Amino acid sequence: MARNVFVTGAGRGIGLSLVKHLLQQGECVWATYRDADKASALLRLAEKNSNLTVEHLDVTDSDQLFVLSQKWKHIPFDWIVNNAGVYGPKSVNFQDIKTSEWLDVLTTNTIAPYQVTRTFYANLLQGKERKLVFISSKMGSIEDNTSGGGYLYRSSKSALNQIAKSLAIDLSYDDVCVLALHPGWVQTAMGGPNALIPSDVSASGLVTVIECADLEASGQFWNFDGSRIEW
Ligand SMILES: NC(=O)c1ccc[n+]([C@@H]2O[C@H](COP(=O)([O-])OP(=O)(O)OC[C@H]3O[C@@H](n4cnc5c(N)ncnc54)[C@H](OP(=O)(O)O)[C@@H]3O)[C@@H](O)[C@H]2O)c1
Repeated sequence: MARNVFVTGAGRGIGLSLVKHLLQQGECVWATYRDADKASALLRLAEKNSNLTVEHLDVTDSDQLFVLSQKWKHIPFDWIVNNAGVYGPKSVNFQDIKTSEWLDVLTTNTIAPYQVTRTFYANLLQGKERKLVFISSKMGSIEDNTSGGGYLYRSSKSALNQIAKSLAIDLSYDDVCVLALHPGWVQTAMGGPNALIPSDVSASGLVTVIECADLEASGQFWNFDGSRIEW
């Protein structure tokens, strides 16, 4: 039977590739986008695909979250994929960081995935598979940090990893599998042209990792190729 999957930040990049891959597999997808001007490919896909429902959502906007949760109240989600994210200003010297910019990155990458999860948790409990996914980054791994810098982005993803770990423990009584996933270095606006893999390769790997994950895999940090990453 087809799964019901909710993906945030699906207007472009890895989110859009996840939607395409899931539809090719025959799944039903609920996808949200923030900027309609950047989401034309997703909107076109929805016009010709009855398995795809799209809605506007800025994940940092609590009013929008509430309105959408009311609209989707009775939809069971097998997976929630918290994908939306920002890098923030690049190449910022440690002397030059602006607190307001740091807070924006933390709000989008750390707090919003938590709020999305809280808002749609009832939908996940209605689903069969109960898989809660956070698209994190290896840049959030303290073990992997050998090059320094990236203060805003790194700290936002390290904090996201802590949230994933705590939720894996706290939601285990509901048999929810919680995964922090690194998508690879991916050719998107964020990853840039020198990135190592196209977004369809990342999406395909991520979907396989999520499919294969069981409760024993919960509360761990996984690469898109199925290998484990140290926190
Ligand atoms: N690319 C990489 O190499 C790489 C590596 C590690 C981790 N990641 C992670 O993978 C995820 C996807 O990244 P990507 O490479 O696909 O980046 P991207 O091409 O820049 O796309 C980011 C997506 O997130 C959305 N987004 C940002 N802020 C949002 C908000 N407040 N509300 C709703 N949507 C919002 C964007 O929407 P708009 O179109 O409206 O801006 C866009 O759809 C992110 O969490 C990122 O940190 C990426």
